[in-house]
Amino acid sequence: MNQFPYDAVIFDLDGTLFDAEDGIVSSVVSAMEELELPIPEDADLRLVVGPPLLDSFRNLLRIPEDRLDEAVESYKRHFAQEGMYRYQIYPHIRSILQMLREGGVHVGLATSKDRNIANRVMDYFGLSHYFDAIVGENVDHVKLGKPELIRRALPEKYRCAAMVGDRCFDVAGAKGAGIECVGVSYGCGSEEELQDAGADHIVPDTESLRALLCPGAEIPRGFFLSMEGLDGSGKTTQMELLEKKLRQLGYSVVRTREPGGCDISEDIRSIILSTDNMEMCSTTEALLYAASRAQHVHQLIRPAVEEGRVVLCDRFVDSSVAYQGGGRQLGLETIQQINAPAVADMMPDMTIYLAIDHRTAIRRRLNASTPDRLELEDLEFFERVQKAYERLIKENRKRFASVDAERDIDSIAKDVLAAVLEKIEPEAKWEE
Ligand code: TYD
Repeated sequence: MNQFPYDAVIFDLDGTLFDAEDGIVSSVVSAMEELELPIPEDADLRLVVGPPLLDSFRNLLRIPEDRLDEAVESYKRHFAQEGMYRYQIYPHIRSILQMLREGGVHVGLATSKDRNIANRVMDYFGLSHYFDAIVGENVDHVKLGKPELIRRALPEKYRCAAMVGDRCFDVAGAKGAGIECVGVSYGCGSEEELQDAGADHIVPDTESLRALLCPGAEIPRGFFLSMEGLDGSGKTTQMELLEKKLRQLGYSVVRTREPGGCDISEDIRSIILSTDNMEMCSTTEALLYAASRAQHVHQLIRPAVEEGRVVLCDRFVDSSVAYQGGGRQLGLETIQQINAPAVADMMPDMTIYLAIDHRTAIRRRLNASTPDRLELEDLEFFERVQKAYERLIKENRKRFASVDAERDIDSIAKDVLAAVLEKIEPEAKWEE
């Protein structure tokens, strides 16, 4: 087991785990608008992130004393309805939390936020399962203050503990609780602010934070996800939406495609798809897809997964099995054999199949309802492709998630995301 420098680490929420600025500032603006109060300059608004809300409203935004309660109420409502959904987990945070847990470190959260809201944010972003203690203020009671919040998030016994935070309030809180403070200058506070407050360490980014908290630890393996479907199934749109969402949840995402994804494979792609190469036989085509895949796996997919990233690949070996094996009738097993050395041990951890009938797919592509003679030939080809996919799904139930793609974009995206999250972090409780 690794010997990490701290056996208890307490995190601040806003500006430390989450890029919270956009979510908080937009909620403040909505509250000020609702109360018809003047909206401050951007720079002033940003200072609101970090200190307890009431203090910011009173001292920074100069909201009159008799309207403070109303302003706080309005802010909280806007935050719960819209603001928190604009949060974004900083990159590498998830892997840091995972590494700390695996290293047996006590992990806590101490935030000046209301603890119900803090719990909601942590649940929505699927982080709660990493934490031994989540401590926030309780609106109905006297304010605890940061040192007491930190004390409550600590375990009974520890060898050496640290608070990780981005503002001078976190440093002061750590000192009050008698533990070290690691200041992070990527949040809302500057390096100067943290230095003046007396932080024991200051790190500029989450990679340095990981090196400080988990020295020598191996980065957890990432995740390899492929998306499949007939041409016209809406893969590109769904890949984009999934990528955006996973980034917001703090995953380090690499999006790529086949054929292609790196220089050599893109060169092979242009040979395969070029209309100059009409005489290309099906076997050559199948071998070129496999060659392009071998380079892609070697150069991009494997290194990215080993670095802990989530690789989203638009088509992978199943496309070859379905299109060349089924569509071109080279045989599913033959294609699997050709591809074995290219894929090696890098089969996707999960494959999303966007299920759409081949007739609907053709109609979508042609934007017409009755296919002509040539298109009918197409129809048979795509029917074979669809059948091959269906066989693959039947034979690989564990790896595949089939999503009905003959619906509106948002419903499909919701199902795709739910399936992916369940697989990517099964221990997390994801709440809407
Ligand atoms: P592309 O323009 O990327 O289409 P799409 O957006 O639908 O993925 O072209 C890829 C085409 O190549 C697509 O028709 C499927 C086909 N293909 C194969 O036949 N075999 C394969 O192994 C791969 C990866 C793609």
